[in-house]
Amino acid sequence: MNDRITTKTIKNMKHRGKRIVELTAYDYPSAMLADEGEVDIILVGDSLGMVVLGYENTLHVTLEDMIHHTKAVVRGAKKPLIVTDMPFMSYQVSKEQALENAGRLIQDGGAHAVKLEGGGRMVETVDFITSAGIPVQAHLGLTPQSINELGGYFVQGKTDKAARKMLDDAKALQDAGAFSLVLECVPEDLAGLISNELKIPTIGIGAGRKTDGQVLVFHDLLGYSRGYLPKFVRRYENLADSIKNAISGFSEDVRNGDFPGEEEIYKIKNLDLSELMRQMKLEEEISD
Ligand code: KIV
Repeated sequence: MNDRITTKTIKNMKHRGKRIVELTAYDYPSAMLADEGEVDIILVGDSLGMVVLGYENTLHVTLEDMIHHTKAVVRGAKKPLIVTDMPFMSYQVSKEQALENAGRLIQDGGAHAVKLEGGGRMVETVDFITSAGIPVQAHLGLTPQSINELGGYFVQGKTDKAARKMLDDAKALQDAGAFSLVLECVPEDLAGLISNELKIPTIGIGAGRKTDGQVLVFHDLLGYSRGYLPKFVRRYENLADSIKNAISGFSEDVRNGDFPGEEEIYKIKNLDLSELMRQMKLEEEISD
């Protein structure tokens, strides 16, 4: 039986008042564990550029990176809907370019839907992609691919004018066929207003408690990274320290000669190496 979550399931969840759980994952084990942890949507986010590939922002991620990581995620997760981010400059040039690259994420990567960032200027593109049968998750508020335009990772929609524009953009993206909308770093009340006004579900990240679902970055949730952590993240684990401690233990044991121990070696009962050693000694004597 195929019990894969679909975009239809996700839209219905809003109408049934069921909160949607979305989490990023970037490879086979993270996808497998996200599936076991019962998330509804896995986002192969372009945040992979920062948390996995070590870039300073998401602008360096390529379409090939996204396809490569999506393939691994698809192999690891059987139930969640898999949404892949369209990376910077893979959809901004023209709507034709956007459709072609969205198609590659579906056809070559195996994603079920794509996500792209931006409001008004992206509406026509979302319409073009969804008209070809590819589901789109839209993304408003703090859109990290526009970091150079925004000037930093700040809360968005802080003035009446900016709030109005975000609401209008959200409605336009819904009308263009987006099946859901990510709201990143948005005041709680504005995110709540947008969520009430839309028929499609909103998924918040730093957008408070009134959205239809929540998304977090895998590494943030698990403490699998070092450095700055945004206010909106809740850390459920401290993997970085656990992993570091485990590796330090291994280093120490190898250096002390404590690894491998008696239980970690192969011993074959009837293996007798004395004949082999006798032959080697003979060979040595002949060559002298
Ligand atoms: O790339 C990403 O991880 C994202 C989430 C922060 C929504 O876009």
